[in-house]
Amino acid sequence: MMKDIASQMKALSQMIKGEREFDSDGVREAASVIADHARDIPMMFPEGSNEHPSEVADAVWERWSEFVALGELLGTRADALAEASESAGNATDVRPGFTEIGKTCLSCHQDFRVGG
Ligand code: HEC
Repeated sequence: MMKDIASQMKALSQMIKGEREFDSDGVREAASVIADHARDIPMMFPEGSNEHPSEVADAVWERWSEFVALGELLGTRADALAEASESAGNATDVRPGFTEIGKTCLSCHQDFRVGG
C-alpha cells in the first residue's frame, strides 16, 4: 500500500517538475488514491503486527492516536489537493498542496518508521 502511495507521489512530482505533462485529472486521481489509502493506514497496523521483520517502530502502538491523526491529516491534505486540481491550470497551482502532502509523509516516517 505504501508503495502505491509512493508511486502516486512520484507521478505527481514528475508533473510538478515538468517531467510529465500537467493533467489536472491525473492529479485528482493520484490525490484520491492517496486519500483512500491514507484512511486505511491504521487498519494496516494491528497491534502486534511487528512480530514480523518490518520497519514499523513500536512508537506506532505507543502513540497510536498520533499515528492515526497523521493518517487522517494525510487524507485531508490529499482531499485538498484533489479539490485544488479541479481549478488548477498548471503545475504551479497544485505545488503547495503537493508540498503539504510530502511533509506529512516525512513527519510520519520520522516518528514511526524505523530508519526514518
Ligand atoms: C500515518 C503514518 C504514515 C504516513 C502519513 C505515510 N507513511 Fe509511508 N510508511 C509508514 C510506516 C509505519 C512505514 C513502514 C511500514 C513497514 O515497514 O511495514 C512506511 C513505509 C513506507 C514506504 C516503504 C514501503 C515498503 O514496502 O518498503 C514507502 C515507499 C512509503 N512509506 C511512502 C509514503 C509516502 C509517499 C507517503 C505520503 C504520501 C507516506 N508514506 C505516508 C507510515 C506512514
